[in-house]
Formats: sequence, structure tokens, C-alpha cells
Amino acid sequence: MSNPIRVERVSTGIPKIDEMLAGGIPRGFAVAVTGEPGTGKTVFCIHFIAEGLKRGEKGIFITTEESRSSIIVQASQFGFDFRRGEEERRLVIIDALMRSERSPWTLTALNPEELVEKVIEAKKYLGYGPTRLVVDSLSAFWLDAPAMARRHSYFIKRVLTQWDLTILMTSQYAITTSEAFGFGVEHVADGIIRFRRSVAGGVLRRFIMIEKMRWTPHDKRMYEIDIVDGKGLVVLGPTHLRKEDVTLPSRVAERIIRAREKSEREVGI
Ligand SMILES: Nc1ncnc2c1ncn2[C@@H]1O[C@H](COP(=O)(O)OP(=O)(O)OP(=O)(O)O)[C@@H](O)[C@H]1O
Ligand SMILES: [Mg+2]
Repeated sequence: MSNPIRVERVSTGIPKIDEMLAGGIPRGFAVAVTGEPGTGKTVFCIHFIAEGLKRGEKGIFITTEESRSSIIVQASQFGFDFRRGEEERRLVIIDALMRSERSPWTLTALNPEELVEKVIEAKKYLGYGPTRLVVDSLSAFWLDAPAMARRHSYFIKRVLTQWDLTILMTSQYAITTSEAFGFGVEHVADGIIRFRRSVAGGVLRRFIMIEKMRWTPHDKRMYEIDIVDGKGLVVLGPTHLRKEDVTLPSRVAERIIRAREKSEREVGI
């Protein structure tokens, strides 16, 4: 039997999470980062981009829920200079929230075609070499049509994987009155990194778990994390919390399951 083909891995910027991933995210993967609001998805994405810049790689950060300057401020609180990255033409932050007419790095509409076009434009602008892409959040691209989530994610992945990108795409569980978003990305993604939260004893706690990572003998435990001023995301250690402590309330979970079934029926999968 021949030896397995060696997998090149990309560091996430957080040594403990790299360890959980047997070294990092396989280069070229598109990984879904999911979780409830405020659990650390954007902070994690910031580390991922900052680590690339540190290693001389390029970065593209698409932000749909926060402005470009909000991302720059947040990064600076953890010691990362994203403005310099932009000035040195190593980072492009595409602001899909403010949509300033003066900047070329904006999206006029949140549709998958425009997303893909802009990423390719940014990649050409940054030039040759390994590039990290963050789409925060991807679910924003089908707010009007959650049933299209899987088809859109498939399209985006198919096109973008041809461009030497390692991709993080966030998705939320934003429960509105009748729908839940987020599903669709998970099946298409090469990996799923799930963030969770709980309130125990009146205190907010956050957790991370690698739920899926192709080609990777990853850690299967849930780890408690914290977000620390001046530092960013810190992994505290594996936790023995009961599942009930961190799962969604059953009413919400049922709604998500119903929305997922409906979405799969509509897309015909
Ligand atoms: N400088 C800081 N020091 C300590 N904690 C911070 C700091 N900045 C942000 N945080 C924490 O990080 C949280 C935000 O995390 P993050 O933006 O990554 O959430 P998210 O999972 O992306 O949420 P959403 O789905 O709403 O975008 C804040 O609510 C706060 O608790
Ligand atoms: Mg966020």
C-alpha cells in the first residue's frame, strides 16, 4: 500500500485550534463557521486573516453585517493592523454593508454572482500566491431566499476553489418569525467549525467544536473559549458540559429542522 498523499495545512492563527485540526485547515478548503450571535465567528475570521498576513499570504475579507471600519477596529483590539495590510496591497476588505460609492471594494447587491466576481477582481488585484478568503456572513447572500442556500453555496464553492483560496464562510442561525437560515452551507463545506454559547450561573460561556473536517483526524471534543481584550480568541480547554447546556431551546431547534426540510424540498435534494 502506498503512503497517503501529504496534505498541506493552513494555520488558523490560534495554536490550540490548529492542534485540534491536526495541524490546520487543508489548503484550498472551504470551511463553514457557524454559530449564534456573539459567539466568536467574526473574531475567529479576523485571526485567520491576520495569520495569513503574518506569513506573507494575501487576504480578502467580505463583511456584510459590519462595516469595513468596524472590522479594522475589532482587529486592532487584538493587535492586528488591517489598515497596513490594505496599504501594502496584501489585504482587501470588501464592505457589503456601507456600500460607499467612492470605494471599488463594495458590493452593490448581495447576490452570489456579484460576490464571486468581486472576489476574483480582488484576487487579481492582490496578485499571485496563497490567499485567504473570509465571507462574513455567507448567509446574508440568501436572506430573501433561504431555500437557495445549498445551490448558492455550491455555485460559490465551485467557482472559487479554482482560485487558490482557503475559505472561511460564516453562517448564523438567525431565527426570524418563520424561517431559519444557515443550512445549505454545511453540506457543501469541506469542514464545519461550530461555535456555541450557554449561560450558566448567570454567566455567558462560549464553546468551539470541530464538527467536520475532511482529510483530518480532528479532535471531537467541545472546548470552552474566551475572547480577551488585547488578545482575541483564547481556548481554555475541553469541557464536560452536558449537551442540554449548549443546545438550542427545543422550540428553536424544531423551527430550524422544519425550515431545513422545507428548504431541501424546494431545492429538490
Ligand atoms: N476587545 C474585546 N475584548 C473582549 N471581548 C471582546 C472584544 N471585542 C469583542 N469581544 C467579544 O466578542 C463578541 C463578538 O464576537 P463576534 O463578533 O466574533 O461574534 P459573531 O459570532 O461574529 O456574532 P454575529 O453572528 O452577531 O456576527 C462580543 O460580543 C464580545 O463579547
Ligand atoms: Mg460576526
